[in-house]
Amino acid sequence: MNFPAIIAQKKLGGALSDEQIAAFVKGAADGSVPDYQLAALLMAIRLNDMDARETTTLTLEMARSGDMLHPDVGGVPVDKHSTGGVGDTTTLVLVPLCAACGARIAKMSGRGLGHTGGTVDKMESIGMKTDLAEEDFLRQIREIGCAVTGQSAELAPADKTLYALRDTTSTVDSLPLIASSIMSKKLASGAEGIVLDVKVGSGAIMPTYEGSLELAKAMVEIGTRAGRHVSALLTGMDEPLGSHVGNRLEVKEAIDILRGDSAGPLLTVSLRLGAQLLIASGIAHTPAEGEKLLRAALDDGRGLAKLRQMIAAQGGDASVCDHPEVLAQAPIVTPIFAGRAGYVAHMDTARLGYASQELGAGRKQKTDAIDPRVGFIMHCRVGDHLTENQPLCTVYAANEETLSRAAAMIREAITLADTPVEKEKLLYALVTSEGVEAL
Ligand code: URA
Ligand code: CA
Repeated sequence: MNFPAIIAQKKLGGALSDEQIAAFVKGAADGSVPDYQLAALLMAIRLNDMDARETTTLTLEMARSGDMLHPDVGGVPVDKHSTGGVGDTTTLVLVPLCAACGARIAKMSGRGLGHTGGTVDKMESIGMKTDLAEEDFLRQIREIGCAVTGQSAELAPADKTLYALRDTTSTVDSLPLIASSIMSKKLASGAEGIVLDVKVGSGAIMPTYEGSLELAKAMVEIGTRAGRHVSALLTGMDEPLGSHVGNRLEVKEAIDILRGDSAGPLLTVSLRLGAQLLIASGIAHTPAEGEKLLRAALDDGRGLAKLRQMIAAQGGDASVCDHPEVLAQAPIVTPIFAGRAGYVAHMDTARLGYASQELGAGRKQKTDAIDPRVGFIMHCRVGDHLTENQPLCTVYAANEETLSRAAAMIREAITLADTPVEKEKLLYALVTSEGVEAL
């Protein structure tokens, strides 16, 4: 295959043939095409897009670039995937709740990327193993109903190569590249039910509602055509979802919720997503029925008990479920003030994510170590009024340098106004194979 000709075709806006796409994916998976040619084609795709046929072919080829699993988990294997957010730890809330309701959650999670946090990093912050061998992963699901692991090298290896290149060549925000990256991993992992959380707003991978909706529709269509039960919720990322940002802090918020000590938008979105997982599992028939089952598991403590089991099964310290306050400790704990009174009018959520990265909660380079202790707890949401003496947030920092850089970023990211401001939207739409339902 003449690779420069493939690049030229996409550069001029033409569609690639199935054979050309197969050559691209094979070249990415086996290393036979050099990074500079892959990167040039990625940029051509980012600029000139792909049609539905090309995107589907790309996804299926990427899924087949490694192992295709048919996991025996004693029930319908289901998985949830978010396009990435800040303070977005729905996984640690909904996985135990859904498993407590009888679902079989075979969850593949990622690490933090750019301004977004990753479940794998959060789990490692309390000592959990996230590189489960396939047989251990499946046995754990059969025994306790859920397991969460990082992506193995055998699964969709083409995505591993392409993702690393996209992250460093400004080609992440492309519908066909995001859709194929996410769906290839879900198809390869053998998930029969797939629930997608597609974020909308200033902290989302796609900046506009229209872009996020197109992405959700494309992923639902690809999964449905592959014979999987897929739904997507479009949810707000115009401010952090939970109040806690940073690895141990986010684990703490998930535990607080499962203990019944906290609620709010993180719980709302977790219940909506969880209800879709129960529907995909055949356990609930409507979102309302699903939420009712999940609420019952929350109220009687079965969700918390399941999280305890999962932490212990993956080698972590489950006693944090009884003493979540130990997860909110850092050398420096200090409130950040806006320096004026006013209504919280806007948050640049991506910038807040980068502030947590600056503190050490995320990586600037692939090899950076994460500091599990650091991050911040928000004390306001868009629409709230703050007096001059009310802090925007409390920062948990390792040292004065990172504290002062992050504090400046947080102040820049949050805009105050003198007149009242409407709250941000949290739930936008549900996309299924039947169509789009506004929420
Ligand atoms: N998550 C992924 O796995 N891939 C993307 O391209 C974006 C988010
Ligand atoms: Ca806004």
